[in-house]
Amino acid sequence: ERTEIVSLYKNTPADGTVVTVCGWAKNIRDSKNIGFIALSDGGCFKTLQVVLEAGKLANYDEVVHTGLYSSLRVVGRIVLTPQAKQPFELNADSVEILGDCPADEYPLQKKKMSMEYLRTMPTLRPRTNTFNAAFRVRSVAAYAIHKFFQENGFVYAHSPLLTASDCEGAGEMFRVTTLDLDNVPKNEDGTVDYTKDFFEKPVNLTVSGQLEAEAMAMAFGKVYTFGPTFRAEKSFTTRHAAEFWMIEPEMAFCDLNGYMDTAEAMTKYVIRYVLDNCPDEMAFFNQFIDKGLIERLELVAGSEFGRISYTDAIEILKKNNKKFQFPVEWGVDIQTEHERYLTEVVFKKPVFVTDYPKEIKSFYMKQNADGKTVAAADMLVPGIGELIGGSQREEDYDKLVTRMDELGLDKSSYDWYLNLRKFGGVEHAGYGLGFERMIMYLTGIQNIRDVLPFPRTAYGF
Ligand code: 4AD
Ligand code: MG
Repeated sequence: ERTEIVSLYKNTPADGTVVTVCGWAKNIRDSKNIGFIALSDGGCFKTLQVVLEAGKLANYDEVVHTGLYSSLRVVGRIVLTPQAKQPFELNADSVEILGDCPADEYPLQKKKMSMEYLRTMPTLRPRTNTFNAAFRVRSVAAYAIHKFFQENGFVYAHSPLLTASDCEGAGEMFRVTTLDLDNVPKNEDGTVDYTKDFFEKPVNLTVSGQLEAEAMAMAFGKVYTFGPTFRAEKSFTTRHAAEFWMIEPEMAFCDLNGYMDTAEAMTKYVIRYVLDNCPDEMAFFNQFIDKGLIERLELVAGSEFGRISYTDAIEILKKNNKKFQFPVEWGVDIQTEHERYLTEVVFKKPVFVTDYPKEIKSFYMKQNADGKTVAAADMLVPGIGELIGGSQREEDYDKLVTRMDELGLDKSSYDWYLNLRKFGGVEHAGYGLGFERMIMYLTGIQNIRDVLPFPRTAYGF
């Protein structure tokens, strides 16, 4: 017979309706005769105002002096309050303390605590407004992503987390082994004897599900992955995590423009969905984390994204080289400061940078006719920089083999991948969306560690 607070807000009950609610006391105010508790049961961002009258409740003193975040069961009557901020409140007939929360031991205080300090309490911070809102947006955005792809005919493909390949070829993998690291079995030539390991070969956590997604796309036409990926890059930035979630759509019969069109439509869809379905959370971010956030997202959802070639982007950036810590020239990998200049100063909206030099991109990307660039595109957004990376894939078997040889890749662990080009291979393209960066973009939160419930980054756990 417990009523969830969210259902009260969805269908305002009649004045006088008797309900039982359970939740945590997020705020308690009291005077001698009357007290107020903001009760949250976690089902929505809004709290329910519970009114306590000393004359009515035998345990009034105990209740108003219980610690914040004590859990309570309240039976009471709904009182409509059309003149107040909340449409109704609950006048308590009885309050039972289910679990006391001793104020002298509880680490969360009512006063504003810094994000840094809250990071030291990953198990408790979801109870605070900022993190509660962030993690609900995370859930809703994940649903929006599934909804977008499912409604557009994509099949959700589960890519493995244990792999033998290195998709990005950057050597940033976490090795997974059952070998005793203090007593590693060796071959006669001194190398590690992986035949003694669980899989009898070196295995690592995946850096990307793309290669398997390509295989699935050759069966289903359009697929997407949505799962954890792992990178052992010692990147001490606010945008890099060692464990992060990636969405990787892969589309057969699709070129670079097809990828960009899909990525743009998806981004707008997710923004729209979160604005429409998390109004309280978004209003909170707009007020306390990033003023103007909602207005900016509304604009983005309704505008056309920019598109510029890497070569043209470098021309623009070069003219502004004095402004950068790292001046650019054609051929360099553009860094966050350049990405942000392009999207924040030049375009003032999301922009795709296309056709990068092949030297700074991955082996699988389709080589352009100029012999210098590949059909890749990164989507950059204001405040973040790179949100999405993707490309058309090289479907030509010989060109792909040549490129892998040039890069010194061990083809033996990619034979299945190469065979996809032989067995009915077709033009195809795809991209990777960093889910945490999307949540940062949607909430205005500045640090990736604050959009991951339990972050694992180069800073540690
Ligand atoms: O640009 P990346 O490395 O591309 C790929 O992995 C491709 N296989 C994707 C594909 O074409 N299927 O990564 C894609 C996105 C980046 O744009 C970024 O948003 C995010 O993943 N990302 C990270 N997010 C958090 N922490 C990290 N260490 C990240 N590395 C990449
Ligand atoms: Mg990238």
